Amino acid sequence: MIILGIETSCDETAAAVVIDGTEILSSVVSSQIAVHHPYGGVVPELASRKHIEAIVPVVNEAISKAFKGKHKVPACKQLDGIAVTQGPGLIGSLLVGFSFAKSFAFALDIPWTGINHLEAHINSVFLEPNPPPFPFVALLVSGGHTSIYHVTSHTRFRLMGQTRDDAAGEAFDKVSKMLGLGYPGGAIIGKLAENGDPEKITFPRAYLNKTDFDFSFSGLKTAVNRYIQTHKDKHEEPACDIAAGFQESVVDVLSYKIISAAIKKGCSHIAVVGGVAANRRLREKVRHDAGLKGITVHIPSFQLCGDNAAMIAATGYHYLIDGKVSDISDDVYSRSPHNCTQIDRSLTTTTS
Ligand code: KG4
Ligand code: ZN
Repeated sequence: MIILGIETSCDETAAAVVIDGTEILSSVVSSQIAVHHPYGGVVPELASRKHIEAIVPVVNEAISKAFKGKHKVPACKQLDGIAVTQGPGLIGSLLVGFSFAKSFAFALDIPWTGINHLEAHINSVFLEPNPPPFPFVALLVSGGHTSIYHVTSHTRFRLMGQTRDDAAGEAFDKVSKMLGLGYPGGAIIGKLAENGDPEKITFPRAYLNKTDFDFSFSGLKTAVNRYIQTHKDKHEEPACDIAAGFQESVVDVLSYKIISAAIKKGCSHIAVVGGVAANRRLREKVRHDAGLKGITVHIPSFQLCGDNAAMIAATGYHYLIDGKVSDISDDVYSRSPHNCTQIDRSLTTTTS
């Protein structure tokens, strides 16, 4: 089954063509970094306008790259279905991709399905060779979410724990701002930290209760801010050491909790997904610590950690083969509503 995926939940306009949820024929991502950079973060109104400009060229490019040289049938006639991000995300941005997908599916007379962005991040590991067998535990670390799930199928997820305040990616972004380094913060801090000494400045680790799987990063953020404020007049603030110390604190907690979750569930496979999974130190630390326990770690390649449409198409495949198609009256959502996805604590009987 050949699925066109479309993703416009935040500041990336993306389209991809994927076969049977595993083989990527094309994946195009148009980033808006240059647009939002002067503002130090994503400006929602600008983001939706840029999506409107980019959606048609990006979808065109994805389709023509996927079917290049195969001219017997018009390219878009080879699509069997469309999958599009329905939420969570910025409403104005989501609406661009969602409305486009609805109309395109209607025009082509093919089924379409709205996809939860978080489920798609978890499914991104199935676009890589040797994906994890079910069940496994997944650490989703993005700009808006930091959560651990017990995953029993492509479409069944049980939330085991999540952040009580900031997401890990958000903490990276805020520390970058505090250091005057701007947006997009995660990648900047990750790079800077490579030249720093992670042991020079020790920031707190918020394990909360060591037996649950919730997170908190706001205390760490405050500690970093206080450090910067107290050292700024001394003209000796080693930005790379601050970045490395901060990063090590985040990575220690993430690695400890996902490995504990795997042990608790008796899972020998872990997935680490979302934008922060591109962080080199996180990749190295989880692989090292999990290796000591005989646990196998699955982390997507860099281009599949950040937002992309291949993961949307891969997830859509599993919904469409189950006949779960969306209706023309369906709408986008900014936060995961209770009836919309199995990724929700309210649908679970326990939280662990
Ligand atoms: O999954 P994603 O692309 O978008 C959301 O769904 O939120 O994640 C974006 C987040 C941002 O907070 C960004 O700063 C962070 O991922 N990020 C990183 C790195 N690359 C992106 N965080 C740490 N290290 C990185 N190398
Ligand atoms: Zn994302």
